[in-house]
Amino acid sequence: MLRRAADPLVVDLGYGASPVTTIELARRLRAVEPGVRVLGLELDPERVAAALPAAEPPWLEFARGGFELAGARPVLVRAFNVLRQYNEDGVPIAWKTMLDAIVPGGLLVEGTCDEIGRRCSWITLDQDGPRTLTLSCRLENLDRPSTVAERLPKALIHHNVPGERIHDLLSTMDSCWLAAAPHRSFGVRARWVETVRLLRERGWPVRDRPARWRLGELTVDYAAVAPD
Ligand SMILES: C[S@@+](CC[C@H](N)C(=O)[O-])C[C@H]1O[C@@H](n2cnc3c(N)ncnc32)[C@H](O)[C@@H]1O
Repeated sequence: MLRRAADPLVVDLGYGASPVTTIELARRLRAVEPGVRVLGLELDPERVAAALPAAEPPWLEFARGGFELAGARPVLVRAFNVLRQYNEDGVPIAWKTMLDAIVPGGLLVEGTCDEIGRRCSWITLDQDGPRTLTLSCRLENLDRPSTVAERLPKALIHHNVPGERIHDLLSTMDSCWLAAAPHRSFGVRARWVETVRLLRERGWPVRDRPARWRLGELTVDYAAVAPD
């Protein structure tokens, strides 16, 4: 998507007290597409001022901005650990405001993670709404997949209760993880891959991305976990 874009602009929204995620995002994306420009946006003016010394215009810039994206028209927005500060009923309008600013065909990646990124989850959205949910765990020392529950995106975290689809997914993953225990002797990645295979066998719409499974990721269609 970045390679095809006339102006491959990416926004890291709400980068926080330090712009480390924006800097790393720029470095990693530039390795894929050297023309990528990354813009870090923050509501807090002191955080914008603190980030400015790290700017490398035009490739890496920082500015004050919120969900309207300060007039920018990016192809991709990353918003991590931002919506968790909001009420759940503020999520749809925040999504819509960001998606309205993104160019047609672009994506919003909105999620939550722990402080060092070992438990992450994110929803990928396009102009038609949420498409997928991705769960991502550092596999070493992973007790069970459902420990990612405390880092679910705002749209799902309050729905992780019996009777809701997201709870069903996490419970089924735990039982597949248990069933996959014999694969532990081939390494924890093999156990996760087997967990994902079993999950799919039980009818969950898992996206076919085996290279990502090996990293401790799983992507399912959002419709399979969406709250009623
Ligand atoms: C917990 S920090 C997240 C930092 C970083 N994204 C991360 O994942 O480590 C949340 C940041 O979001 C910013 N923020 C909250 N609402 C925002 C909005 N509507 N637009 C831009 N930034 C926002 C806050 O000022 C705060 O710095």
